[in-house]
Amino acid sequence: MNLDEASVCYLNGKFLPLAEAKISVLDRGFIFGDAVYEVIPVSSGTLLFIDKHLARFARSLAEIGIINPLAVDEWRACLEQLVALNNVAQCSIYVQVSRGVAVRDHAAPAGIVPTIFAMCRPMHVPSQPSRVRAITMVDPRWARCDIKSTSLLPNVLLRNQAVAKGVDEVLLVRDGLVTEGAASNVFVVSSGQVKTPPLSEKILAGVTRSEILDALSRLGTPVSEEDISPAQLREAEEIWITSSTRETACVYELDGHVIGDGNSYPIAARVYAHMQDHKRQFVTSGA
Ligand code: PDD
Repeated sequence: MNLDEASVCYLNGKFLPLAEAKISVLDRGFIFGDAVYEVIPVSSGTLLFIDKHLARFARSLAEIGIINPLAVDEWRACLEQLVALNNVAQCSIYVQVSRGVAVRDHAAPAGIVPTIFAMCRPMHVPSQPSRVRAITMVDPRWARCDIKSTSLLPNVLLRNQAVAKGVDEVLLVRDGLVTEGAASNVFVVSSGQVKTPPLSEKILAGVTRSEILDALSRLGTPVSEEDISPAQLREAEEIWITSSTRETACVYELDGHVIGDGNSYPIAARVYAHMQDHKRQFVTSGA
């Protein structure tokens, strides 16, 4: 089905058409970006890697001091029902929890009720890794990029600049080291070795990143979580960006320079094919 304004969303305990979902203008998510979110891929009607997504969601909520409004089983049931009601086999789920509605004051009053919202979005997964162009920029974000906050103004501005320059993603550099993309994690193949920046408060602990690390280990491909310099990025044989909606995309041009031979990504292609099998297995077994 078409995921448009008629599609079903979830708002505070009710399923209803997206066009009819309304929240207060005093919601702190709207006023302050005082909210966290998740994006969960759905394949053959199954919420992929749902435990990892719900664990990260719980962590984001805890880090900003919102009591998780639903238990893991309740989240699962709610999001599975959302997929079923939309009768859609492949999509992504966007889910956010804000601190709730209150008269505007930076300090949140005690006892407000969190606002819970979830919707399905269309998602296309190509049969091969897609090819993208990227630019590098200084990472202008806050110091807690490990929290999946809806306060995404820097990311929005970065993506707008990418679009204005006709490229797909911005790879970010902080203190002379590569952190991640504006909406993705980053891997490089450098001198035959796969590398990705280590987890820290400077990057989001991507679920796709984690799944790809597991896939590389199953494939027997060595990988290290280590700092990457912009020079290593430019000289890489392959650069991949990873996220729940893009899965793995290969950067064939960075800052106008061709990466590798600009055409072949043997390690990415192997990992991608393996990930498609792994997802099929996950759909069949549910784990
Ligand atoms: N974003 N880093 C950032 C800054 C991101 O926004 C994302 C994904 C990732 C990858 O995380 P994951 O593999 O769990 O999707 C890394 C989502 C897709 C979004 O904001 O829409």
